[in-house]
Amino acid sequence: MTATYEVRGTVAVITLSNPPVNGLGYATRKAAAEAIQRAEEDGEVKAIIITGAGKAFSGGADIKEFGTPKALAEPNLHSLISVAENCSKPIVAAIHTVCMGGGLELALGCHYRVAAPGAKIALPEVKLGLLPGAGGTQRLPRALGVEPALNMIVSGEPVNSELLAMVPGQILFNRIIEGDLIDGAMVFAKEMADVRPLPKVRDLKARVANGEAFFQFARNMVGGMSKNFPAPLRCLEAVAASVNMKFDDGIKAEREGFVALMMTPESKALRHAFFAERAASKIGDVPDDTPVRKIAKVAVIGAGTMGGGITMNFLNAGIPVTMLETKQEALDRGVATIRKNYEAQVKKGKLKEEKYNERMSLLATTLSYDAIGDADLVIEAVFEELGVKESVFKQLDKVMKPGAILASNTSTLDVNKIASFTDRPQDVVGMHFFSPANVMKLLEVVRGEKTAKDVLATVMQLAKKIRKTAVVSGVCDGFIGNRMIEQYSRQAGFLLDEGCSPQQVDKAAERFGFAMGPFRMGDLAGNDIGWAIRKRRYVEKPNLNYSKSADLLCEMGRYGQKTQAGWYDYQAGKRDAIPSKAVEQMLEMHRAAQGITPRQITDEEIVHRLVFALVNEAAHLLEEGIAQRASDVDMVYLTGYGFPLWRGGPMCYADTFGLYNVVQTMKRFARNPHDDANFWQPAPLLARLVEQGKSFTE
Ligand code: 3HC
Ligand code: NAI
Repeated sequence: MTATYEVRGTVAVITLSNPPVNGLGYATRKAAAEAIQRAEEDGEVKAIIITGAGKAFSGGADIKEFGTPKALAEPNLHSLISVAENCSKPIVAAIHTVCMGGGLELALGCHYRVAAPGAKIALPEVKLGLLPGAGGTQRLPRALGVEPALNMIVSGEPVNSELLAMVPGQILFNRIIEGDLIDGAMVFAKEMADVRPLPKVRDLKARVANGEAFFQFARNMVGGMSKNFPAPLRCLEAVAASVNMKFDDGIKAEREGFVALMMTPESKALRHAFFAERAASKIGDVPDDTPVRKIAKVAVIGAGTMGGGITMNFLNAGIPVTMLETKQEALDRGVATIRKNYEAQVKKGKLKEEKYNERMSLLATTLSYDAIGDADLVIEAVFEELGVKESVFKQLDKVMKPGAILASNTSTLDVNKIASFTDRPQDVVGMHFFSPANVMKLLEVVRGEKTAKDVLATVMQLAKKIRKTAVVSGVCDGFIGNRMIEQYSRQAGFLLDEGCSPQQVDKAAERFGFAMGPFRMGDLAGNDIGWAIRKRRYVEKPNLNYSKSADLLCEMGRYGQKTQAGWYDYQAGKRDAIPSKAVEQMLEMHRAAQGITPRQITDEEIVHRLVFALVNEAAHLLEEGIAQRASDVDMVYLTGYGFPLWRGGPMCYADTFGLYNVVQTMKRFARNPHDDANFWQPAPLLARLVEQGKSFTE
């Protein structure tokens, strides 16, 4: 049963029961509508309560049904809401934990709503590139007031029930119930059993002072903030309809907006990202119920750039951390950086002073391994040299208690090798954070050959706790993200050789939506890092060609922002990238030396060479089993590499472009004498998908 029916005295209690979040799929809608009708026909029943089982009242419409006939099958959400609204007996929605999207729309169709304090209330459709399509844009402004409703609908952010109950004049919540929700709802339902007429939100007026000016101001604000996303402005227009139109006309306008948005590539991408994020937390051969190890205490080795940021994640989550270094000065520097970061947040009003003090009180430092032996997890973030890692892991093997997880933040080294420095390779795992580690969402969890399943399950669960998006990667050079970015960077270099300027490539990439083009990114990260990697590659893979322009740049001492000169010039203390004459001349000489006549290159070619390089390399990663699924690759790029969210990630973009077209484009690139024809041979997986008419992500 996806909705249960029970009569307690004179009150029928209908409980939505569709785990995990009581999504309002076809079966649940049908069961709920039938239960309401049953209560309507039951002479003993004077009032009805609708609530949800488990961890939600309802998470809304079943997103998995979107685009299938089930989404529209009767009773659709509108019909269910109409059954509730037109019921001749009072219906009370008893809301707890989570009430979102269609769940809130159903509650708004009930005659009354009571809520437990702390319930998260939202119309989050905008985050899926949609607008609330079952009356939410028409009923919420009437029940809560236009301005707070507009804020909720345009942002999609959840608000606590008790805060909403304090909005002057609201009737969204008739009562906040402390203690047992159903007991309280029963009392309320009995009080209302004989009150007539039954109140309907649709009968109210949505009013706002200076309506035209209010919405014009809101339009400017929302338009400015939601570039590339059509949904927020359509949400706004739907809310404006609640003020300017009769209820039924407003519902019609809302419906039109919903249908139009559902077809947009932006909504498709956002829905893909929603499921991709959840899929990433699952590991094929590690069952969901794998027992996890308790992580109550963490140690971090190395208090440098990464060590400090990593530490902050745990302090923020209330987990004590001990940082270990070889010298007191390094510890002091690390602690000072953490303080500075927190103080900046306090100054901006993003962190309360007492929270800051609380977090700092969880931080300890030490120069001795004896002080960290009882930590449940230790994360190493020392210099990227195998010898240094070896000495650290040998020490850890000696001092850490049995069952402790030993993690490395290495970005390039072999995690299996690191594990072999210990007598407990099953406890060793890679936890590859991205810089700045306290800000970036991505965490690549690197699974060694011998990493135990419960270690993986523990780290994946912990990632949620510290608010990271964890993606599992197998062991290979660069793991998922950096192995792909190397091909992207090679293409960026070839584009310079053939006639582009760094600013032309960056602009094209940024117009496509990347947070930063490859050359601005290089200047920010330090061009010397890529130089060191290439020097290694020249020995390991002598047949792999690179543009020499980046080496020439480094030979000029132009490492990027830190030397105030890189692909661009920089003024002291500023980050503005100024096109550089010196770089232009270097590139001209370099092209002449190679005998290349520069040509005009379109933005489209630039973007496709960059993005399809990512896609082809990712197809190899999937084939090799380094990445579990194409949507994992998308999560890596969305959360760690500034790939535009509204395009859903490189694999989703390739699917939207059409894999056949991707391969045809790659074949054209392969014919370019200045590019790498070998690289552009479609990866076997990509070729197979085209052959079978399939895509990466569907
Ligand atoms: N439909 C279908 N499945 C859903 C769902 C929904 N609305 N909401 C969550 N799920 C699924 C997830 O996919 C996941 O499934 P999995 O275990 O198979 O991967 C499972 O529920 C648990 O999800 P979370 O890991 O996110 O669980 P949390 O407890 O952390 O969060 C939540 C619960 C707050 C409800 C969160 O899942 C969420 O924000 N869901 C999306 C809510 C939403 O966007 N609702 C609007 C839907 S659109 C709509 O209602 C249209 C209407 O206006 C017409
Ligand atoms: P860093 O140079 O800023 O910090 C390293 C710290 O380790 C220094 O404070 C140093 O004193 C300390 N250290 C060195 N040897 C030690 C030892 N034996 N015992 C204890 N402490 C020791 O380096 P960063 O950038 O923090 O990098 C650390 C690790 O993180 C490296 O493996 C790197 O590849 C990886 N990484 C770096 C990223 C970045 O963007 N900087 C991103 C992701 C991973």
